[in-house]
Amino acid sequence: MENLPRTLTVDLGERSYPIFIGPGILNSPDQYIFPYLKGKDIMVVSNETVAPLYLDRLMNGLRDHYNTEAVVLPDGEQYKTLESVNLIFDALLANKFGRDATLVALGGGVVGDMTGFAAACYQRGIDFLQIPTTLLSQVDSSVGGKTGVNHPLGKNMIGAFHQPRAVLIDIATLSTLEMRHYRAGLAEVIKYGLIEDCEFFVALQENIDDLLRLEQDVLVDAIETSCRIKAEIVADDERESGRRAILNLGHTFGHAIETATGYSEWLHGEAIACGMVMAADLSERLGWLARDEVDEIRALFQKVGLPTAPPSSMTREGFIDLMSHDKKVVSGQLRLVLLKTIGQAIVSSEYDQDCLDKTLDAFCKPLD
Ligand code: NAD
Ligand code: GLY
Repeated sequence: MENLPRTLTVDLGERSYPIFIGPGILNSPDQYIFPYLKGKDIMVVSNETVAPLYLDRLMNGLRDHYNTEAVVLPDGEQYKTLESVNLIFDALLANKFGRDATLVALGGGVVGDMTGFAAACYQRGIDFLQIPTTLLSQVDSSVGGKTGVNHPLGKNMIGAFHQPRAVLIDIATLSTLEMRHYRAGLAEVIKYGLIEDCEFFVALQENIDDLLRLEQDVLVDAIETSCRIKAEIVADDERESGRRAILNLGHTFGHAIETATGYSEWLHGEAIACGMVMAADLSERLGWLARDEVDEIRALFQKVGLPTAPPSSMTREGFIDLMSHDKKVVSGQLRLVLLKTIGQAIVSSEYDQDCLDKTLDAFCKPLD
């Protein structure tokens, strides 16, 4: 395949950074890592699942040239906590690392979000690099500088905006990822087509079988287009004062599902796939999408093997209660990301409540 790796830029003035996408990037730290290091000290952060697969390779490429240490965290969303971030601080302090040290996140979105948050806080801010190893983290969480941890009272409630110095996407790491996690990442890929790029959505419909086989050309194209759309939105609205919120298509319905199922049964990508179908259904009831388009969206998620209906235990009342805690509630008014058409999302609080009730009724069982 020509032109690998692909290179994109997140354009944020003096804080701009590159995204490299291709196979084997982990094998060439001289090209993709060394140019982004400030000092001689590097702390790689990974977890118990990813470290046995990729940590040695990364460390071997760094050790001869840099003072390189590693911290391996427990694996799981339940460990995305201040306690885990404290383990990173412990390692940095025990090794007497200073402000010119660089943190390197090697793992999925959980490792990336915590490493970024540790980098935002340590000595009031140090550099970090993202090496995302799940599809979701490659197309979404590693780009854009949202970092943080969960609080017992809410997901991602403690955090900071802190941009990485570079994002290194080695697609070869996806070969070891469980298929269920890969499918969940595809939900985010499809999201970009829905919110911003109808042609991309059509290409995904055409190439979905190849994508499910991890066929390299199609996979690189899909990751590149996803990152390009995200980079462009982040460059336009880094702090989410407006447009960036469209990246949350399906998330208000999806977060309600994740909360109702205790963050343990459904993966994030699974919940937002269902949430995007619900948002599409509501958009149709508001007179924007055609019913055929809603059916096409549902069919694509079904082809990927993602859920398109909420758990049978969920009721309309349950959704309304859980959705009222959404971060997009402003002055008591719930704002939703909706589709004007495939490829054009808007954020609006001006929707007919009746239509929302009808969508919830269509997807939920009535209260007994
Ligand atoms: P994850 O980090 O939990 O990874 C999923 C599983 O795959 C984990 O068990 C992990 O150890 C394993 N894994 C990772 N890479 C692997 C590989 N190459 N081979 C084998 N196993 C591998 O989950 P995720 O889906 O990557 O990320 C979810 C997190 O991302 C959530 O905490 C979510 O809040 C966050 N997120 C953040 C943003 C953002 O903008 N910062 C955006 C979306 C999601
Ligand atoms: N994943 C949503 C955002 O980065 O804004």
